Amino acid sequence: MFMHYKEIWKQKIADAINALLAENGLPETVAVSGVVAEIPPQPDMGDLGFPMFAYAKILRKAPPQIAQAVREKLDSSAGSGVAKYMGPYVNVFLERAETVRELLKEAALGEKGGFGKPGSLKGVRIMVEFSSPNTNKPLHLGHLRNDILGESISRILAVCGADVRKVCIINDRGVHICKSMLAYQTYGNGATPESERIKSDHFVGKWYVRFNQMSKEDPSVEEKAQDMLRKWESGDEETRYLWKKMNEWAIKGMKETYRRTGVSFDAYYFESKTYALGKGEIAKGLEKGVFYKADDGAVMVDLSAEGLGEKALLRKDGTSIYITQDIGTAIFRHEDWAFDRLIYVVGSEQQHHFKALFSILHKLGYEWAKNLRHLSYGMVNLPEGKMKSREGTVVDADNLLDSLKEMALQEIKGKEREEAVGNPDEIAEKVALGALHYYLLQVGAAKDMLFNPKESLSFNGDTGPYLQYMGARISSMLRKASLKDGALTYPAIKPELLSGDAEWDVVKTLFDYNNAIADAAEKMDSSLVAAYAYSLSKAFSRFYHDCPILNAENPDLAAARLALSEAALFVLKDALRLVGIPFLDVM
Ligand code: ARG
Repeated sequence: MFMHYKEIWKQKIADAINALLAENGLPETVAVSGVVAEIPPQPDMGDLGFPMFAYAKILRKAPPQIAQAVREKLDSSAGSGVAKYMGPYVNVFLERAETVRELLKEAALGEKGGFGKPGSLKGVRIMVEFSSPNTNKPLHLGHLRNDILGESISRILAVCGADVRKVCIINDRGVHICKSMLAYQTYGNGATPESERIKSDHFVGKWYVRFNQMSKEDPSVEEKAQDMLRKWESGDEETRYLWKKMNEWAIKGMKETYRRTGVSFDAYYFESKTYALGKGEIAKGLEKGVFYKADDGAVMVDLSAEGLGEKALLRKDGTSIYITQDIGTAIFRHEDWAFDRLIYVVGSEQQHHFKALFSILHKLGYEWAKNLRHLSYGMVNLPEGKMKSREGTVVDADNLLDSLKEMALQEIKGKEREEAVGNPDEIAEKVALGALHYYLLQVGAAKDMLFNPKESLSFNGDTGPYLQYMGARISSMLRKASLKDGALTYPAIKPELLSGDAEWDVVKTLFDYNNAIADAAEKMDSSLVAAYAYSLSKAFSRFYHDCPILNAENPDLAAARLALSEAALFVLKDALRLVGIPFLDVM
């Protein structure tokens, strides 16, 4: 099995400490998982550093003495490195050639090897809910952030070995849906997306904006929308027909956007089918005394012990509320597909909602409620201003993608790369997606952020296109090499040729890939994989700058450096896929 040298050395340190404990007749033992490995502050201090402070108490010795004793214990077992004690630390200087050999052996296995497969979540069933739009308007910039957070974390969890099910709940009923319906019914005159030549979800969104204008002129339309909802609930045929038609338009258009951004789902839920689900649970909770009836007849829950106050679960007329449906849907989902974990990717303005939801499910006695998580994310705005759908100035997802694509196309044209890239249109689209996804993921999810289109598209700096460019550069070099006589098929790679500092930096970064993924999965933080891809690109770029590859002094050196480049490309490609950045072999 492929193992990080760090893990191997952690084990050696743990064994040495345990041997010392046993020799001194002390009862304690230390676990490998508890051994801390640090990166020494300066390269000339070694590749790994193990602080000994934590063992002073159990070994009843001062840390520098422990470091010395551990170092002596390691002598007999060392191999692939040299350990030295430095004050209270045991530092390890890895045997570079040996370590490089391990790396190249693993990398040569490609897909069959262990790179990009930490396996830390083997067999864990994780449901990830994300995007979850409403059918009254098209997807906006906030959804793009949500979508890539959900898609990316799902891919990361999956390569960790989890069985991942991506789901989306479409909020396709309620008074907001009736608003676009009402505007269309009043002024639509039978127009369709086809007759207007407009993307079908944008068509629906246009009517939602229209409703808000209507409401400004005549506030009584709000009441009419409520009437329409009542008609919908009673199953009125005409209302249902209009509802179905407009929802189909909305959903068809959204699915086009998902296809464009590379987002997909294993299952869709529809609120119109799930909205009644929670009611039975509310009745059960009332019986059990978990909930209570307020004076006006509404059903309430008291979450003040949890610091969440009192919350209504059913209105006084018995109709359900946003949370009612979520209670029912969570239970339904668990019956449908018994998850070990359920992650909701939803905006931070719903933090209170999810805290309440999780504690209500817990109160109802669902043991799995402790495994529900809210992956909360902040607002995204464009530098120009806020996105607000009511005023009709929302940053529409498709329009934003179109303009990013146009900007990327101009860039390609400006550099006169149209011929070189083959299909400028396709490349521009992929650059746009790379720019967008990287920019959105790079910031930790919790923070509000500004999306700066121009900055996101910059080819140098910490951006998606820079990473794509690095991938294209390595690809093109490898293509050239394969044209050169036998460079790539050169029989034996000599790892000792790769022990210069620039190569060594790439090697160590490659070793860290699986840890970066596992860490991202554990913290539900895709930005860690994005940051990893950037640090790999930077390390590679330094190597590329310092070490001639195709023009290396001799064929052995060229072959060794090409092998390292191939390994780096394999990992970079894999990392880009995890964060939704299309890989390009020319750019
Ligand atoms: N459609 C909702 C909104 O736009 C988000 C749904 C989130 N998911 C959930 N299970 N409540 O606010």
